[in-house]
Amino acid sequence: MSFDLQGFPADSEALASLAARGLDYRLVDPRNAAAAAAWVEADFRGFHHARPKQIELDHELGVIADRRVHGVYDSTIVDPAIPVATVSSWPTGLSVPGGRSVDAWAVSSVTVSPTHRRRGIARALMLAELQNARAAGAALAMLTATEATIYGRYGYAPAARSATVFVDRRRVHWVGPDAPGRVQFVDAASIREAAPAIARRAVARTPGEIDRWPGLLDRVLGLHDADSGRSRARRVVRYDDERGQAQGFAVFHVSREPNEPGVAEFDFLAAATDDAERALWRFLVEQDFVSGTRGLLRSVDEPLPWLLEDPRAVSFSDVVDHLWLRVIDPVTALTARRYSAPGRLEIEVDDPIGIAGGRFELVVDEAGRAEVTALEHTDAAASAKGVRSIRLGVRELGAIYLGGVHPSVLARAGRITELAPGSIAAADAMFAAQRAPHLSIWF
Ligand SMILES: CC(C)(COP(=O)(O)OP(=O)(O)OC[C@H]1O[C@@H](n2cnc3c(N)ncnc32)[C@H](O)[C@@H]1OP(=O)(O)O)[C@@H](O)C(=O)NCCC(=O)NCCS
Repeated sequence: MSFDLQGFPADSEALASLAARGLDYRLVDPRNAAAAAAWVEADFRGFHHARPKQIELDHELGVIADRRVHGVYDSTIVDPAIPVATVSSWPTGLSVPGGRSVDAWAVSSVTVSPTHRRRGIARALMLAELQNARAAGAALAMLTATEATIYGRYGYAPAARSATVFVDRRRVHWVGPDAPGRVQFVDAASIREAAPAIARRAVARTPGEIDRWPGLLDRVLGLHDADSGRSRARRVVRYDDERGQAQGFAVFHVSREPNEPGVAEFDFLAAATDDAERALWRFLVEQDFVSGTRGLLRSVDEPLPWLLEDPRAVSFSDVVDHLWLRVIDPVTALTARRYSAPGRLEIEVDDPIGIAGGRFELVVDEAGRAEVTALEHTDAAASAKGVRSIRLGVRELGAIYLGGVHPSVLARAGRITELAPGSIAAADAMFAAQRAPHLSIWF
């Protein structure tokens, strides 16, 4: 998805609504070092982070150079150069069932200063981002959320969950297959060149994962601030297959109190093959002088319990919503993914914000490929034609899109209506995903 991030002006509605409150909504030029640094300062403050060190600031400036960055400014405050609200966004790929990627619009850094909260600033920013997503030709907008109560009102819904996984070292006895390759320690800098290609293949295997940006890989490898204690604690291991080709890597550190066995905490895992995934997991859970291994943002459907003699060695906690999706263009979004059963289904989508509403016909062939058509108002209703059909809101469409929740669950919750008998069962079969959707990073 190539797109000129600075190529169109700040959204006129947000501009007008914020101007009416005496505020100035601006597109920030990330090449303007002073303005960009002030924006990063506000972003860090908004998330209650410590003020960035110069090296962190330099890293952040590199990251936002590839983003569309907006700030909201109040000329009446002591330091009017620091925005009172921030948001950044960029076009990027989202993996969908079937191994393809769909063009999506990632939204990040949504902050409003506590001095300016609850006067509609976030609302203006979020509505503008939906227009930006549309202008960029994205099929969906997406984000990760600090709190689950903020984004539903703009049409976003949780589409992929994540969990914390803890593996009790004392109970680990590996019974899974041996991987034919080998795992070895490597220097973080030495894997940086191979990392994007491995990460790209790992992302493509998992619906819900999004394209990694260069700054993210620098950060997880600890290269953005190599001398910090946190970076120096990180260790990197690589899995090479039997032909010596790198197929995955993991980054971890061991947190420990003096004289106590530590916990191996893994920070990042990218596996392009099942062998790589198994071998890296095995390395991580079989360490000595640790009481266990912990991974954050892991899949709710990890194969790990099936690789150990004692599946209770593995516990899942903090299972939460993680990736939130907002459908912008239903035809493109629904066409992009593959489906698990053939069939024909009409979908009536209600979108109170007026972006993705309408009636759509989804026809899936035996191979799981879809043809999607937007129907005219004058077309007879599906139920009248005897066709299976459902009615749902744009949030529910986002929730079922990757197969993270069955339509029948939302029907039981009164959030999807079946308009013809058998439609929910058909939707369940079609939308089911072979692999539970999963996003393993924050953005
Ligand atoms: C979340 C945040 C951006 C909201 O900004 P804001 O300008 O106060 O929000 P708005 O005034 O535009 O509120 C719009 C609506 O969202 C609701 N809302 C805003 N923040 C909310 C929150 N944290 N929890 C629940 N509802 C919230 C408001 O009540 C309002 O509801 P309405 O639609 O019924 O009128 C701000 O509180 C913030 O910066 N939080 C800390 C950083 C953060 O967590 N950012 C989110 C990153 S994912």
